[in-house]
Amino acid sequence: MIQLQDVEKMYRGKVHALRGVSLEVMDGEIFGLLGPNGAGKSTLVKIIMTVIHATRVSGTLLEKPIGNRKILEDIGYLPEHHRFPYYLTGKQVLHHYAALANVSRKDRITRASSFLSRLGLNGWENKKVGSYSKGMLQRLGIAQALMNDPKLLVLDEPTDGVDPVGRREIRDLLAELRDEGRAVFLNSHLLSELEMVCDRVAIMVKGKVTMQGTIESLTQDSRRYEIETEESVPTWAKEVVDDVSEHLMVIRSDDPAIIQPILDRLRRDQITILSVKPVRENLEDLFMRAVDHTDTPGAVQ
Ligand SMILES: Nc1ncnc2c1ncn2[C@@H]1O[C@H](COP(=O)(O)OP(=O)(O)O)[C@@H](O)[C@H]1O
Ligand SMILES: [Mg+2]
Repeated sequence: MIQLQDVEKMYRGKVHALRGVSLEVMDGEIFGLLGPNGAGKSTLVKIIMTVIHATRVSGTLLEKPIGNRKILEDIGYLPEHHRFPYYLTGKQVLHHYAALANVSRKDRITRASSFLSRLGLNGWENKKVGSYSKGMLQRLGIAQALMNDPKLLVLDEPTDGVDPVGRREIRDLLAELRDEGRAVFLNSHLLSELEMVCDRVAIMVKGKVTMQGTIESLTQDSRRYEIETEESVPTWAKEVVDDVSEHLMVIRSDDPAIIQPILDRLRRDQITILSVKPVRENLEDLFMRAVDHTDTPGAVQ
């Protein structure tokens, strides 16, 4: 769906926004680009959508070179900080943008009513968007991105300004859209949003992608068991586990077989086991690690 190699962007004001970004979005997946504000996420999206030029880009979008505008007919786009003309109603907005994308009147009518209701805007379709809340504008923006029945959706901060219930609805909708066979490329600075919905993620910090893969594969190495004891950890523990503190033993493995003999031995020693916990990093830990690494010169390829 999207394949990018070594994208560079230097803004005229000499901001080096992208420093050699490569990534791949596959058919039928939800791919999340994650990074703090100013990381370069929107810059990358705008390059893909031909809104701005890259300083250097090679890659393809739906198998056509980046920059080919014809292919954009098959892509739905929600830009960041979008502004719809405030004097149009929600329904008029959808018709307006779909007409720009050459969608027939017949399709516009059926899709507008279907997406307005799927995005929870029933009853608001004939009200002017000037009266919409930020969350409603965002939902309307997603409906707008769907009007051309796209194979790929590119959503820049889709849940920005949406309340928690609305966010959940948007996540469910994205999963449904994926199940219909569409790919979704979204970006967000909200970690938990991505963790819940994305099949794969890339973490971008200061214009570079520092990690990319499934959340499962990115957090694989961090898996461990933690055993908490009431009495002090016995001295033999230092020999058999990876980390020991007064009441805690850490075993860096996700294999339950490895911890069984340790538990047996603790019981033999009449140590009270308070808890045995399998632990793995979440996206936030991963993200913090990625941010830390960029502060260490040479740590990021
Ligand atoms: N038009 C512009 N001119 C100069 N610098 C810009 C422009 N747009 C964005 N930037 C800078 O490029 C960097 C990346 O911005 P952006 O892509 O918007 O990040 P994100 O979407 O991850 O928050 C930031 O330092 C931002 O200030
Ligand atoms: Mg942005």
